[in-house]
Amino acid sequence: MDYFPYRDGELHAEDAALSNIAEQFGTPCYVYSRAALENAFRQYQEALSGCDHLICYAVKANSNLAVLDTLARLGAGFDIVSAGELERVIAAGGEPSRVVFSGVAKKREEMALALELGIACFNVESAAELEVLADVAGAMGLCARISVRVNPDVDAQTHPYISTGLRENKFGVTTDEALRVYRRAAELDSIEVVGVDCHIGSQLTQISPFIDALKRLLELVDELEAEGITLRHLDLGGGLGVCYRDEQPPSIGDYIAAVRATLGERKVKLVFEPGRSIAANAGILLTRVEYLKTTPDHHFALIDAAMNDMIRPALYEAWLDIRQVNADADGHRARWDIVGPVCETGDFLGKDRDLALRQGDLLAVSGAGAYGFTMSSNYNSRPRAAEVMVEGEHVHLVRERESFADIIRGEHRLPPGN
Ligand code: LLP
Repeated sequence: MDYFPYRDGELHAEDAALSNIAEQFGTPCYVYSRAALENAFRQYQEALSGCDHLICYAVKANSNLAVLDTLARLGAGFDIVSAGELERVIAAGGEPSRVVFSGVAKKREEMALALELGIACFNVESAAELEVLADVAGAMGLCARISVRVNPDVDAQTHPYISTGLRENKFGVTTDEALRVYRRAAELDSIEVVGVDCHIGSQLTQISPFIDALKRLLELVDELEAEGITLRHLDLGGGLGVCYRDEQPPSIGDYIAAVRATLGERKVKLVFEPGRSIAANAGILLTRVEYLKTTPDHHFALIDAAMNDMIRPALYEAWLDIRQVNADADGHRARWDIVGPVCETGDFLGKDRDLALRQGDLLAVSGAGAYGFTMSSNYNSRPRAAEVMVEGEHVHLVRERESFADIIRGEHRLPPGN
């Protein structure tokens, strides 16, 4: 199902024309499809039916309250990495009892908030963190449910910046260290061991690294069981890739089926933390061509979105499809570099794109629903973009475009004087 189809020569988000959205809300603007989000989430639910599970959407992928609300209404849990993300989940109507807390450097205040709200589990990433968590929980007279994040040392075969499960990465602990952390955890009164966790990277396009990681986790589960430490859940993290260009990631259904087949008859609750595979293709970034400029070497389309709005091409050399909103565009056909107004050579959203452009044309950057807005900044004092969510033909403004006052909020000049 295509949630961003061409209809009557014009690109739509569900049943809403993108040109109308641009007119009403301005550009750059993130546009999300509620149905696309729901469809992806339901694919996880269906693949996991008949099996005890919790799907914890990774909030970092897209943390807009309307996105979280959409998923919470379907019964989602959430994977958070900060108190801010936890506050967002609560503000969006999410259930703290369905939240898992990942992250390598959780602060005491963050732990305290999560304990107070009664989250499902802390994914502990080091022996030192365990001690601090035990201390915080003990002081509050509470008990923290934990799993240990294991770094299974498997190659996720993805971009090095988003690979997290190799020995050289900062995440989790080795399987040997995990044994020691679990033994220590079992001794602590304010800690309850409930699971084991890993997350080996993002945008994985093959099933085998997931299965290798799972097998290592299962060996650990068995070793712990032999020592009398029983784990109730197994969290495989997120990481399933999507198609941006010509990648062929496994479907959600095939991925989950492979996990279930590897588990066989084991009775363990499965937890997943998908972000990208739920949100990436549920969003586009709508932008307008301000100017066209041809130099001796290049054709540049200067657009009103920039690396501050969508940093993935600059940071990871990510390729995102860029489509013209008007399918019958009869502008200047050339191979265009699609670049933003920010003063950096790395400020591009696409290079060498075959498009027929005119000044003022609208473009849609695909695959922008995950790690788009959440990674945006105010670099060059640019207000962050508006976000809208489409539901059929209805368009809801789910985040207002920032104003100048928003940008400088909290800043102060020096006291008067010289
Ligand atoms: N769980 C943990 C502990 C994570 O660190 C992440 C992502 C996820 C779940 C969700 O992974 P996903 O299903 O989205 O692959 N900014 C990068 C991606 C960074 C991912 C960081 N961790 C990008 O734009 O490609």
